[in-house]
Amino acid sequence: MSFKLKGAFLGAAVLAALPVTVWAQQVGYPGGAAYPFGSPASEADIRAWDKDVRPDGAGLPAGSGTYKQGEQIYGEQCASCHGLKLEGIRDPNLPQGGAPALVGGRGTLNTTHFKQTVESYWPYATTLFDYITRAMPYTAPGSLKPDEVYALVAYILAEGHVIKPTEVMDAKSLPKVRMPNRDGFYIDNRPYPVKRYD
Ligand code: HEC
Repeated sequence: MSFKLKGAFLGAAVLAALPVTVWAQQVGYPGGAAYPFGSPASEADIRAWDKDVRPDGAGLPAGSGTYKQGEQIYGEQCASCHGLKLEGIRDPNLPQGGAPALVGGRGTLNTTHFKQTVESYWPYATTLFDYITRAMPYTAPGSLKPDEVYALVAYILAEGHVIKPTEVMDAKSLPKVRMPNRDGFYIDNRPYPVKRYD
């Protein structure tokens, strides 16, 4: 085959492939020639995933919970890993070798023996709802209902002396809770590249 003929062959191949690509883009995913699998996400599919809670409380669901309810659920589903007094447990038999303390350590962050917990470190109470609803209990994430998560949040925050045990947590009250370390964070606006020391 001469060089010229090869070029013509290649040109024809490119031309032939072009309409297929354009067609696939027009038809789009799913079912297009490029991705012949999958089905469009339904409203319900998207809702099941789209449950992040922002610092200002946007995304908090309906429902509410009390300290008493939270105390019970904590004992049943959390204490085995986080400890009866929320003090954290180290145990090689537990997933991850144990679970961190959830309270205590307030005022230690700028000392050499700092202790990071929900009470001492987290800037927003709403993040506690977000984290628990998506990640805990460790072995069954996503299994808790909004009322149960509100109750656990009320229990943990009250045990950390951030709220009173009488305060009911819901989409209105939770964003108003002010965490002890709320002002302990600042924007790191050093110019890049930042020299790393770790
Ligand atoms: C099987 C053990 C286990 C159980 C049960 C469990 N957790 Fe955890 N939890 C962990 C581990 C391990 C981590 C640390 C995860 C990480 O840092 O990636 C964690 C982290 C957390 C944190 C974040 C702490 C921090 O400061 O970063 C919260 C809050 C929490 N768990 C709440 C709960 C609640 C509420 C329950 C009960 C519904 C629960 N956990 C049940 C193992 C467990």
